[in-house]
Amino acid sequence: MTLKDVKLIELPKIVDERGNLSSIEGGNHIPFKIKRTYMIYDVPGGDNRGAHAYQVLNEFIVALSGSFDVLLDDGYEKRCYSLNRSYYGLYVPKMIWRSIENFSTNSLCMILASEKYNEEDYLRNYDQFKQLK
Ligand code: TYD
Repeated sequence: MTLKDVKLIELPKIVDERGNLSSIEGGNHIPFKIKRTYMIYDVPGGDNRGAHAYQVLNEFIVALSGSFDVLLDDGYEKRCYSLNRSYYGLYVPKMIWRSIENFSTNSLCMILASEKYNEEDYLRNYDQFKQLK
């Protein structure tokens, strides 16, 4: 996988004066079935998380509240996506090194994942990731 396989996806937004609504359907709006959802929250403002890659897992990252930067690296090129809207999400396929940085205070990051949690799927060593690429 390369940065060309990464996609910023705009979700449906049902505008309503009572409050807007957006939805995500696995296999429809995002190109995988969702096996797990997790949230990252209460990150001290400006802090970073999640510098690693996955061997198998594909994910979709949404800034439900606040903002943060997703830094991606396919072993050859790097790119940064700033997320700050709940109706956009970033599709990150397997074998892309990613970190999530610069969290705003009280931001809420939701991650939809194609796999259940499996520590063995993680590549946490950048040199090992580069070698596999
Ligand atoms: P991790 O994905 O390593 O986050 P980061 O790269 O930001 O440090 O997860 C941190 C810890 O949380 C890890 O030790 C395992 C645990 N964890 C779960 O138990 N279930 C999950 O779905 C996730 C994502 C993490």
